[in-house]
Amino acid sequence: MGKFAQSQTVYCRRIGYLQDMRMLLNPMKWPRFWTGIFALVVCAATQAQNPAYTAPGPASSAGARFTDNMAERTRACTACHGEQGRAGPDGYYPRLAGKPAGYLHNQLRNFAQRRRHYDLMSRLIDPLTDDYLGEMAWYFSSLQLPYPKPTASNTISPERLAKGQQLVTQGDASRGLPACTQCHGARLTGVQPNVPGLLGLPLDYLNAQLGAWQTGQRKAHAPDCMAEIVKRIGPEDLIALSSWLARQALPADTQPAARPPVGPPLPNDLRCGSAPELSGPVAGGKP
Ligand code: HEC
Ligand code: HEC
Repeated sequence: MGKFAQSQTVYCRRIGYLQDMRMLLNPMKWPRFWTGIFALVVCAATQAQNPAYTAPGPASSAGARFTDNMAERTRACTACHGEQGRAGPDGYYPRLAGKPAGYLHNQLRNFAQRRRHYDLMSRLIDPLTDDYLGEMAWYFSSLQLPYPKPTASNTISPERLAKGQQLVTQGDASRGLPACTQCHGARLTGVQPNVPGLLGLPLDYLNAQLGAWQTGQRKAHAPDCMAEIVKRIGPEDLIALSSWLARQALPADTQPAARPPVGPPLPNDLRCGSAPELSGPVAGGKP
């Protein structure tokens, strides 16, 4: 394709893209319209600068018109989050594909309600209704894509990595720290519908998220169990466990588990507002 034709295609795609965004923004609250458009323009520019960008193909469940529309309508998202939400190239824009739908929906609410902070993205979703956030969450959750190989290469001794593994898989009863697996699943691929997996996340992203919980920059629906968890982990142990996590390849079955592993009941001060099913209906958590 000649250069002119190519740029024209890109231009036309942009127009189509803006038309799609009008559909996307249909359920919006009108006064926020222009902030939404501002973010879109920035995203379109990001997309144009990214030579690796290719338009997302139709999702695997071919024939579902809804899905095809969603692929188009979420182009503003995939400009940052990578093709089909497989993550940006630099470890900063997180993967969305295949994460539990309830978790993704909760995160969109967290950005909308400023429990998490990334202004460009928050402004983009501000005009959208909660139902629509749920539809986007469902869409990205339904995309099953292979995970890349782990890339963490920070310097850390084998002893400290072993300590990290121990904290993740067994916790530390002496400081009231449950194993991460107790909530994130025995395979660490998450638990439906609200708990994300901990594998396949870049080291920088893991450190940034755990650090943000420690400083109160990231919050989840109250009661915020992760805020309690990070209080029980010192800086050295935090690096040890994130370094171990970021070195693990995904297991053959990357799907989130249907339910959490059977284990000791979670203490009352570790109830999760965003995943109440982890503790069961009774305080203290009955099986
Ligand atoms: C301008 C870039 C940008 C755009 C556009 C964008 N995002 Fe994001 N998104 C981010 C960044 C950066 C983060 C991580 C922020 C942080 O550090 O907490 C994020 C985080 C998320 C998360 C949380 C992921 C997780 O695993 O916790 C979800 C869900 C999400 N974005 C969905 C969307 C959707 C849906 C759209 C389109 C409506 C969108 N994003 C558009 C940059 C963007
Ligand atoms: C009591 C249950 C529980 C335990 C134990 C727990 N987590 Fe979590 N974790 C959650 C829930 C629920 C979320 C989702 C929070 C939200 O909705 O924002 C979460 C989210 C996270 C996230 C964000 C993932 C992302 O994609 O942004 C990270 C990272 C994390 N946990 C790390 C850990 C580590 C490391 C441990 C072990 C030291 C651990 N968690 C133990 C319940 C738990």
